[in-house]
Amino acid sequence: MPAQNVRHLFDPDPEVVYLDAGTYGLPPRPAISALMEALHRWQTGVADYARDWETAGERSRELFAQLIGAAVETIALTPTASAGVGMVAASLPAGAEILVPQEEFTSVVVPFYAAVEGRGITLREVPYRELAAEIRPRTALVAFSLTRAQSGETADLGQIIAAARRHGTRVLVDGTQAIPFVPVKEHLDGIDYLVCHGYKHLLLPRGAARALGGEPALPGQLALRQPNVWRSVDAGSQGVAFRHLAGLALLGRRRSSA
Ligand SMILES: Cc1ncc(COP(=O)(O)O)c(C=O)c1O
Repeated sequence: MPAQNVRHLFDPDPEVVYLDAGTYGLPPRPAISALMEALHRWQTGVADYARDWETAGERSRELFAQLIGAAVETIALTPTASAGVGMVAASLPAGAEILVPQEEFTSVVVPFYAAVEGRGITLREVPYRELAAEIRPRTALVAFSLTRAQSGETADLGQIIAAARRHGTRVLVDGTQAIPFVPVKEHLDGIDYLVCHGYKHLLLPRGAARALGGEPALPGQLALRQPNVWRSVDAGSQGVAFRHLAGLALLGRRRSSA
């Protein structure tokens, strides 16, 4: 869509030329209106939890599914990308090797530190561009930012997925800096988990504010509440993978249903 068609939806300070959506995206006016309305309804106690908030969450799952070309049932909602990674980390079998890039974003690696402790799990760090070449038969999971926060560099997803397939390795992609600019649809079959926080290029609010609804016309949002996500996590420890998890988390099963 041409920029002039959406410019009126934004309200940056006239003194500001805002180019920093990689830190946080500016919300469009409809998102702010919906958020203020939700806050007001919360403040005054007239919000109907199920009707107002749950439906907005469900709608956001649908929209995020559409945006990336996935099935809505595979989408779960999490408060942060790291919460999604944490669920994956908790499901890893003892003794697994996890492959991550050097200088990977903290939300992708820190959840694995806890998994490593006392469970014989190894975290191996290699240069970003060598991820595909470094996947080995004993690599249970490769986890990385599809686009890097520090440089904007984007990984060769197809190459990493192909290497992962050869070795039976699961793939966790953090799409926070990539979506919606880097298409993932053609690779979804090869992605076991995908996390994506919405407060950057998806122009969503961050943290608890997301749980208030936001603009239903925007993909994304909030709060983990799909019970099947937790079931999937349990199943994961028995060797069943989620398919995607976006954090908006996208999750589903792959090898169980394949
Ligand atoms: C690559 C990447 N992943 C994730 C996040 C956000 O992580 P979380 O949702 O855990 O706060 C950021 C924020 O800067 C990021 O750049």
